[in-house]
Amino acid sequence: MLAPTRSVSAFSGIGGRRAPTTPNPCPQPTGACCLPSGFCITVTAANCLAQNGTYNGDNSLCADATCPIILTPYVDALPIPDTAVPTTGSAGGAAHYDIDIVETTHRFHSELAGDAWVWAYDGKYPGDTIEAFKGQTVTVNWFNNLRNEDNTLKTQHRLNIDTCLHGPDITGLVPVVVTHLHGAKVASESDGDPDTAFPPGTGAPLYTYPNNQDACTLWYHDHGLGITRLNVYMGLAGFYLIRDDAEDALNIPRGENEIALAIQDRAFNPDGSFKYPAVHQENFFGDFILVNGKVWPYHTVKRGKYRFRLLNGCNSRTLTLALSDNATFWQIGTDMGLLPAPDANNTHTNTPGERADIVVDFASYAPGTEIILQNSAPAPFPGSAGVGVVPNVMKFIVGAATGDTDPLPATLVDVPAIPEAEAAVTRDFLLRKTPVTIGACDNVTQSIWTINGLMWDDIVERPVLGTTEIWTWINRSGMSHPMHMHLVAFQILDRQPFQMQAGEIVPTGPRVPPIMNERGWKDTVRVDPFEIVRVIARFEDYAGLFPYHCHILEHEDHEMMRQFEAICPPLTIESTPNDVQACKGSQAQFAVDATGAYLSYQWTKDGQPLVDGPTGTGSTITGAKAATLSIANVALMDVGHYECTIKDPCDETRQYGADLLYCPADLDDGTQTGACDGAVTIDDLLYFIDRFQVGDTIADLDDGSGTGQGDSAVTIDDLLFYFERFAAGC
Ligand code: C2O
Ligand code: CU
Ligand code: CU
Repeated sequence: MLAPTRSVSAFSGIGGRRAPTTPNPCPQPTGACCLPSGFCITVTAANCLAQNGTYNGDNSLCADATCPIILTPYVDALPIPDTAVPTTGSAGGAAHYDIDIVETTHRFHSELAGDAWVWAYDGKYPGDTIEAFKGQTVTVNWFNNLRNEDNTLKTQHRLNIDTCLHGPDITGLVPVVVTHLHGAKVASESDGDPDTAFPPGTGAPLYTYPNNQDACTLWYHDHGLGITRLNVYMGLAGFYLIRDDAEDALNIPRGENEIALAIQDRAFNPDGSFKYPAVHQENFFGDFILVNGKVWPYHTVKRGKYRFRLLNGCNSRTLTLALSDNATFWQIGTDMGLLPAPDANNTHTNTPGERADIVVDFASYAPGTEIILQNSAPAPFPGSAGVGVVPNVMKFIVGAATGDTDPLPATLVDVPAIPEAEAAVTRDFLLRKTPVTIGACDNVTQSIWTINGLMWDDIVERPVLGTTEIWTWINRSGMSHPMHMHLVAFQILDRQPFQMQAGEIVPTGPRVPPIMNERGWKDTVRVDPFEIVRVIARFEDYAGLFPYHCHILEHEDHEMMRQFEAICPPLTIESTPNDVQACKGSQAQFAVDATGAYLSYQWTKDGQPLVDGPTGTGSTITGAKAATLSIANVALMDVGHYECTIKDPCDETRQYGADLLYCPADLDDGTQTGACDGAVTIDDLLYFIDRFQVGDTIADLDDGSGTGQGDSAVTIDDLLFYFERFAAGC
């Protein structure tokens, strides 16, 4: 739905006022005049022309006019997002960030009449890029600090919330937010569960991103239930890059030659503010394309290679990108990591939510050459050629300087295929429009997209952690749906066309493996009309509820989003630890044998958690967080009760303990090794005396306090202590 065309009264602009010396006796007819800004004024034809307007005819009315906003492409420079600055730690490593979601203003094109109100992470549109490194934990406090101009907390959205949709049917008009890191393997509590969206003046609990995954281009964005499309549209999106040693070792463009490009479509009102439909519509297509927050920007490049991390951050629009001279580029990565090898191509289709890591080489162009990044994807997609296309994305201007001219590596990283036979379960998901009426809102009946005809709260898929599943997307509709799963990285097995025959799904061709540039780790997959797409995924690490959905945000909000629950296999204990008889210098071991997936272990001694390393008594601990705990070089102080807590990701816990027993007088096993044999005999006495005479530390039993702890000096105290214990039989 279009917002009403703004009418402003005719103003005495250029040519609007005639010189008093030349009065015109006959008043000229006037009509509606569309200015390039999108405003409509009522003026004469000549006046309209003088203002570069489009005259709609004598006596035409602004109320009837639809005035497009006309913006000149490529007048604003491409903004490069800043690297986020952590509160503690360092960018690119372990760090903590405090990020506020705030309202601010942003100018999307220098010819727009004014700024737009936007919502932005720390006031940046798009948000600052969070730099992370594999295995180094990042934590974030996300805080909803949306305030009105008078500094009071917001109680209403900037855009119109449709309370017919699930989410706002409960939270109402309150502008709740919740941040999801798209593509991250994280615990459910840190995943941005749409049901946990929080109102202004509050924050989420601390989110932990372990970054235990390969180098990839992730993005963070809002996920509020039923208002994701509005919150992302307002600006809540940013990049999150994970790097690792394998990627660092590759000679691919970096530094200023590596640029992340967030591509989004938007519509504007003549005053420069955002335009978005007041009630839910099943698709939204803007008529302007932003790259990193500017409409159709330009960027001057060096003559060399660039790595562009492309994100389709549009609500509904699919992008089919190509360079205006049809030059070849190389795709090096997909959603969740690098490809096995660069894939040469001259076009790339990217659906909402997907990322493509591509390398473009500008080395062969003469300085001054201009190359347009173009889009040819119809909207809706695949639609019909030419329909709804916004062809321009951005412009590259080749400068004189030479850039990165190194050749690309022939191979990148290993992407081992998940064997199909590994899958324990296959699930089918039918994508279609379903005639459902939600509550009293009959007006939205036509717009409900569903997955298997079920809703958000219908939780029926329960993958077991540690197992592999094949998910089959079956698109029984005329448009493509980019299907996204949280928690997992998947691989595309194949695509297959089908037809409906007498209500049955009948394949009409073979299963075709994905094209080269889809043969990497993915989290979002395009499922074309009347196509079956099979993906395979391992369910790992974290239990709980995770969303999966179509990434067309208008579909996701109503109702093409559901949840699976990752569950744990049973936790069973095969054997428990036994008491251990130890003596000075011996090695003690406690072991549990448990089966389950992603079990964690923590050993304690007399209730105190143990850590690996020297204990301070002369002994050393290994396996404090493993199934087997080892204590090397036991000393008397190590005597105690050792207990292991075994936990699975579903918080099932078991505890088993045993005692370390110690006999200070039992020094010799008869083989002169000094190990205990569990019996105090004359051998032990002779062995002690022998060691005492040479001052061996094995004879250092007493620290003078009668505790038997070594004090690193073999003295008469030790002799007395030994006799005492020998006499006592232990
Ligand atoms: Cu990009 Cu569920 O999200
Ligand atoms: Cu996601
Ligand atoms: Cu969809």
